Amino acid sequence: MNPIHPKESKMRELFDTISPRYDLFNRVSSLGQDCAWREKSIRLGEVTAGMTVLDIGTGTGDFSVCAAGKIGPSGRIYGMDIAPEMLKQSAAKIKVPFLPVLARAEQIPFQPASVDCIIMAFVLRNVSDVDKTLRECLKVLDSRGKLIVLEITRPANRAVEILYRFYMGKVVPRMGDLLCGKRWPFDYLNQSVMMFQSPQEIAGAMKRVGFASVKIFPLTMGVVHVVIGEK
Ligand SMILES: C[S@@+](CC[C@H](N)C(=O)[O-])C[C@H]1O[C@@H](n2cnc3c(N)ncnc32)[C@H](O)[C@@H]1O
Repeated sequence: MNPIHPKESKMRELFDTISPRYDLFNRVSSLGQDCAWREKSIRLGEVTAGMTVLDIGTGTGDFSVCAAGKIGPSGRIYGMDIAPEMLKQSAAKIKVPFLPVLARAEQIPFQPASVDCIIMAFVLRNVSDVDKTLRECLKVLDSRGKLIVLEITRPANRAVEILYRFYMGKVVPRMGDLLCGKRWPFDYLNQSVMMFQSPQEIAGAMKRVGFASVKIFPLTMGVVHVVIGEK
């Protein structure tokens, strides 16, 4: 699998570089909230026993771990990622049948209508083409299948946003440098969040590519949102 867009190559290099300390960085920088956000997203998306789930940008597999708790041993999870070093960390964590797939979100190597649910945590802002990725998701979802997107977002409340900008712009890159020995991936994290679409724009893109119904759920004062589209 070769990334075909410069942004995809950059993402592969970035996440492979920080893969050994990625989980630790997540726990510390989210003040312990990231696992709760993933759990809540899986509950909101009503993931149930026996489902076939595709986790796009699975990384070290933490979103798959949450889905595994709901789908049980009769279900199956495909964990897809562009970065092989991230993918290596995932398989050992997951108790249900888990199949790692090295592939790009912009070109999902699955048959049409072959999965019940797609989950994507903190990935959409990293892909090279959002609409293309969403169209691919729609294609591989079965009828009434759901796409659950969890993404970091700028809070709407002005006072919270000022604090948030300081935290993301000044504190998080220093934290990343201390924990992972590199600052540039965390400067990118801040820039990517500040420049990315709002939850309403993500929902609009889902509707534009053909999702039948889309719902938005803010979590923790809007510092993250869950956007769920149904085919
Ligand atoms: C911020 S991490 C999120 C990992 C995991 N979903 C979680 O909840 O912690 C983003 C992941 O998306 C992957 N990724 C970035 N761009 C991608 C693309 N175009 N196709 C597939 N995976 C991609 C990265 O390699 C990385 O593992």
